Amino acid sequence: MNEKLLRPDEPLLNEMSRPGNRGYTLPPLDVPEVAPESALPPAALRQQAAALPEVNEPAVVRHFTRISSMNFHVDRGFYPLGSCTMKYNPKVNDEQAGRPGFRALHPLTPVEGAQGALALMDALAGALSRIVGLPHVTLQPAAGAQGELVGMLVTRAYHVDRGDARRRVLIPDSAHGTNPASVALAGYETVTVPSGQDGLVDLDAFRKLMGADVAAVMLTNPNTLGIFERQVEEIARITHASGALLYLDGANLNALLGIARPGDMGFDITHMNLHKTFSTPHGGGGPGAGPVAVTDALEPYLPAPRIVRDGSGFRLDENRPKSIGSVHSFYGNFGILVRAMSYIRMLGADGLAAIGEGAILNANYLKKRLSGVLEEAPPGPCMHEFVLNGSKLKEKGVRTLDVAKRLLDFDMYAPTIYFPLIVPEAIMIEPTESESLASLDRFAEVLRAIVEEAGSDPETTHTAPHRTPVSRLDEGKAARELRLTWKDLPKSG
Ligand SMILES: Cc1ncc(COP(=O)(O)O)c(C=O)c1O
Repeated sequence: MNEKLLRPDEPLLNEMSRPGNRGYTLPPLDVPEVAPESALPPAALRQQAAALPEVNEPAVVRHFTRISSMNFHVDRGFYPLGSCTMKYNPKVNDEQAGRPGFRALHPLTPVEGAQGALALMDALAGALSRIVGLPHVTLQPAAGAQGELVGMLVTRAYHVDRGDARRRVLIPDSAHGTNPASVALAGYETVTVPSGQDGLVDLDAFRKLMGADVAAVMLTNPNTLGIFERQVEEIARITHASGALLYLDGANLNALLGIARPGDMGFDITHMNLHKTFSTPHGGGGPGAGPVAVTDALEPYLPAPRIVRDGSGFRLDENRPKSIGSVHSFYGNFGILVRAMSYIRMLGADGLAAIGEGAILNANYLKKRLSGVLEEAPPGPCMHEFVLNGSKLKEKGVRTLDVAKRLLDFDMYAPTIYFPLIVPEAIMIEPTESESLASLDRFAEVLRAIVEEAGSDPETTHTAPHRTPVSRLDEGKAARELRLTWKDLPKSG
């Protein structure tokens, strides 16, 4: 992209509307025309035609093609968004989800007519259970964050059921913001555990904070600095000795696939982000899935209904007196579950292990290639992602935000920035296993060139991006003044 080929002033469909334009063609009618007022009650009759845009098919296709290319996506280029595992989503997943038997299945279909879908969900739950080494899985939660909330509600139900209402949940300071949010939503108080110089949980501080009123410890492993919490077995021992549960934020499961299992490390609960580890679509707030796996002791509290195998078939068991209740309409986002199952079946056990190894290899290769460009936080080998510290660059007046914006000019997405919070001017890079050596090399060269340019020509970095449809936006305004409707949309009758 040399110029701004894509313009930000793409009109909305409503603005392109011209009376009489049609985007559909009906087959010759074989039913007689009926006047609406003779078939419908007056309350159901419109006084005015609906204010729908009148646009022809080529205009609609071109409009959506243009706006889809304005945004960046994983089908377009490198997307090293740390902690988000933006891996390529194989198209075979979409083919499977698009099969008529899956796509056209109505959620209210009686279970006798939905045996195939239930069998698929049962098989997926079984596969996830084997992958994480915990025996029971619910597929209902719609995202990782909702999985965390389910995990915390299950924790609460478990303790309350034992007559042992507890108050606090311990979370390391490197954790994702959704962890304390889920804890607070479940009615617990968050206590922050500091990390040591090595980026791992400070075990002495952890021991001191542990107590009989701790309901759970929420750990991310590998943690958000991209390093494996080697002390996990000791943390599990201390946690269990005081009667608390050990929760894994499984967002970084990609690094463990086929190599290590959370259940074997002593975790009682974990959520999985299917849109990260299992290559289902990501972002845009679209439907996702954050299944939760638990031990035998916690199974009674999982969301209802549960899929159970009865004789030769499956049914949905609603009779779950200890359950925290349903957390999603019907049984979650089914199309996403089909895609995840397709990915798992395509790879098999060996293929999944190769994913974990590939993710770790790519991250370490890239980290090495970037050596000397920005300070490593912390130095040394990493798991599937790593964090750099942009403080030295900030001393020259160029911030991590500027570097991230400049990367967009090279048609690659910016890594996660300013997270984890414990690293100043953080840049968090997760290349994933689906990147080629060539794309890793190109990213390393571009980042190195940007850091050099920041020294010689800081103005270019400060004012980047220069080649995207829009440049620096007020990023808070969109969240504070959310407008999702067309401003002049006339009221329809
Ligand atoms: C470490 C970690 N935990 C939890 C989440 C929340 O997951 P989700 O976005 O699926 O709600 C994320 C998301 O980026 C994450 O990186």
